[in-house]
Amino acid sequence: MVGSVLIFDSGVGGLSVAAALRRHYPEAALSYACDNAWLPYGLRADEVLTQRIVAVCCAAVAACRPAVLVVACNTASTLALEPLRRVLGIPVVGTVPAIKPAAALSRTRHLGLLATTATVRRPYTQRLIEHFAADCRVTRVAADALVTAAEAWLGGVTPEPVRLNAALAPLWQAASASEPLDTVVLGCTHFPLLTPWLVRLSPVPLAWVDSGAAIARRVGQLAAPLLSAGGASGQAFATAPGPALARALSTHGFQPPRYLPVAEC
Ligand code: DGL
Repeated sequence: MVGSVLIFDSGVGGLSVAAALRRHYPEAALSYACDNAWLPYGLRADEVLTQRIVAVCCAAVAACRPAVLVVACNTASTLALEPLRRVLGIPVVGTVPAIKPAAALSRTRHLGLLATTATVRRPYTQRLIEHFAADCRVTRVAADALVTAAEAWLGGVTPEPVRLNAALAPLWQAASASEPLDTVVLGCTHFPLLTPWLVRLSPVPLAWVDSGAAIARRVGQLAAPLLSAGGASGQAFATAPGPALARALSTHGFQPPRYLPVAEC
């Protein structure tokens, strides 16, 4: 089916994935949907969150009839990819922590995993580490405060370095330890939006690895012929009003969001 690539996240994090898709496929029609009424996902219980993600994605797919859905949220993907694929009749591309490329890059064999509370604890994440980084030490840092900071930053509010440093302290400690980490997985799509801050605040140079390029490649494999073939580009949907969200979306080429009503799917 010809249509846009629909990008879904709890909030503005999916805009980091939209940027990666635009770099790879400048002609592709992109749409955006976010569940800002339930943000942040990373602090919610699994069972209700699974139902919610399925319901929101069903509503968003019905509203914009995309060719492919990109779940641009690690917290949602490590939980709900299977149920989404069961109920949606289109290809679904997930976003999971980039453990494999990070392990390929690390010289010290010590990685940092910066993600939400939910993602650092998930069995899916544990399996990724066992499969792709079995010979690495992985320091997991739950940094939900960075989700709030990224939302504010894209809405026009400059983050406070003291707050960012408080959330990042365990990472900085591990980067300065005697067997230091040298590579950090940005396991939440909000975090690449803060890269200039992460680089500036880090006490030592680190490699920062996100999933954007891998997702763009996967979308190309699944839907390349459809990517420049039309579909309404730039439309956006949200589950709650938010002037800051409209501003953030506009910086990435999306229209002000339309309200997305959500019912059971
Ligand atoms: N952007 C989402 C992710 O990649 C999480 C943000 C949230 O906690 O809602 O995990």
